Amino acid sequence: MLKVKLNHLLIAASLFVATLSPLQLLADTVLPQYSDDVHLGVTSCAGSTCHGATSPWKGSTVLQNEYITWDRYDPHSKAYSVLLNDVSKQMAKNLGIGKAHEAKICLDCHADNVAEKNRGRVFQISDGVGCEACHGGGERWLGLHVSGVASHQDNLDAGLYPTEDPVKRAELCLSCHFGDDKKIVTHRIMGAGHPRLDFELDTFTATQPAHYEIDKDYYERKIVSNGMQTWAIGQALALEKRFEALLKMGETGGIFPELVLFDCQACHHSLMTQKWQPRPGTGLGPGVIRFDDSNLLMLQIILESIDAARGKALQRKTLELHKASTTNSKEFYKMAQSLRDEAKELVSVFSSYKFGKKDVENLLRKLIKRTKEAEFFDYVGAEQAIMGITSVLAAADKMGLKKSTKQIQSSLDTAYQALENYDSWDYAKFKSAVEKINFN
Ligand code: HEC
Ligand code: HEC
Ligand code: HEC
Ligand code: HEC
Repeated sequence: MLKVKLNHLLIAASLFVATLSPLQLLADTVLPQYSDDVHLGVTSCAGSTCHGATSPWKGSTVLQNEYITWDRYDPHSKAYSVLLNDVSKQMAKNLGIGKAHEAKICLDCHADNVAEKNRGRVFQISDGVGCEACHGGGERWLGLHVSGVASHQDNLDAGLYPTEDPVKRAELCLSCHFGDDKKIVTHRIMGAGHPRLDFELDTFTATQPAHYEIDKDYYERKIVSNGMQTWAIGQALALEKRFEALLKMGETGGIFPELVLFDCQACHHSLMTQKWQPRPGTGLGPGVIRFDDSNLLMLQIILESIDAARGKALQRKTLELHKASTTNSKEFYKMAQSLRDEAKELVSVFSSYKFGKKDVENLLRKLIKRTKEAEFFDYVGAEQAIMGITSVLAAADKMGLKKSTKQIQSSLDTAYQALENYDSWDYAKFKSAVEKINFN
């Protein structure tokens, strides 16, 4: 479900402008759910002198009222309670898994579902996606970080998860907003009633109610990634995960591969209206199931803007992948493997690339050009395109380029409206709104 994510731009405009520190790739870090550290529970973070203050503290490097923000505004604090609602009950019944709020498959993404032995005295599963589900079990770093003498690096060394690092953040968010090798929302779970998952790292980072402030001291303490870079890394990692899932589950499910990895609307749309039209980037004819290539489309554009030849090559490979999906399953999985490896490589390419002013122009121009060429005819592509445009504009504003004028805000509003209803989204309205964006 695509919610209106325009507040992204509004938030971005007020952010502190500063030079960015280069991104340092951190050594292998284990996701909070799979590390051996004990998770102490949200209560351990929520003391009034810790992160449970009622309003931000002056003079503190962090806001101190993170708990209130999370508890009142952040959907992650409600992630467990949705497992008790009627939709979840029906889903659990359809799947025959007992109670949703007791089923591992649901808890793994809707709570901080660490092993029993890794739960502290006041840990409560009903806290949902609590602080330590993202920041890592506090066993080793809690004492250290309240002592006030530990540096951020000391905390990281003691198991604090590096949420500020865009690669590590992408891995964390995607592990629930797409899935990982241990958990995923399959088409069977969707069929039982789970909502479709959409994700874009930079937009979702901006949409999650902020319990932190990127101010001057933040820049001194932490890595701050340019929004375009966060977008690019999120796309590459999402693609890597999609292909990994395909390679793991594709050939094991009977005559059909795992359908959740394909474009839902290739199958799910009304038969009463004829709507097919060719999409240049697939080369496919009518009546064919399409692999969800929305991340590939974004990556082609990002790559083309920083390395034209490589971007074109990725376009060719995407065509080959689509072609193989209808002609040669062996070739299809071979392409998937090679594109998975390429996506992995792109994560490090984007991590060391310095996104700047010229990329803003390049990326916006290409996103709008592809819209004109009708490349975003599929909902998933249109959805990623609009989030991408928003992300680039927000980054431009942060760099002081002031791109998002009233005219652009209004075009974006219209484009988001066109996408609001998944079942009856309005392609023509989306396309004409994006084409009207004039950023010069
Ligand atoms: C791979 C992780 C994952 C798994 C597994 C998973 N979910 Fe979800 N679920 C999510 C995410 C992420 C969202 C939020 C989607 C969004 O809004 O973008 C969500 C949303 C939902 C919603 C809608 C919430 C709302 O606020 O309307 C329900 C209901 C739900 N899930 C129930 C379940 C149940 C029941 C199970 C187990 C059968 C389950 N989920 C398994 C990740 C998961
Ligand atoms: C869904 C993931 C998620 C959850 C849940 C979450 N956080 Fe965060 N938190 C983040 C991200 C992302 C950042 C920004 C990147 C960073 O600074 O590490 C952040 C930043 C912070 C910061 C750093 C502020 C600064 O200026 O350095 C603190 C403190 C914090 N969170 C505390 C909490 C507390 C306390 C809770 C629970 C009440 C919580 N977080 C829940 C993801 C999360
Ligand atoms: C442990 C699993 C988990 C992790 C990790 C996680 N999320 Fe979520 N997220 C969820 C679930 C489940 C929901 C749906 C909750 C609900 O609807 O009550 C959700 C909802 C959201 C929403 C609201 C979506 C909407 O359509 O309104 C945003 C935004 C979001 N997450 C961003 C993030 C970001 C950014 C990160 C990484 C820093 C992240 N999440 C990490 C499980 C997770
Ligand atoms: C290859 C075709 C195909 C693709 C791709 C596909 N589905 Fe399905 N879907 C089906 C079929 C077939 C059914 C079973 C219909 C039935 O039982 O009547 C189904 C059932 C469903 C149902 C249950 C509908 C009902 O009436 O109970 C949901 C929800 C659903 N799919 C969601 C999705 C989502 C979300 C995606 C994309 C992430 C997706 N599907 C991708 C073919 C597909």
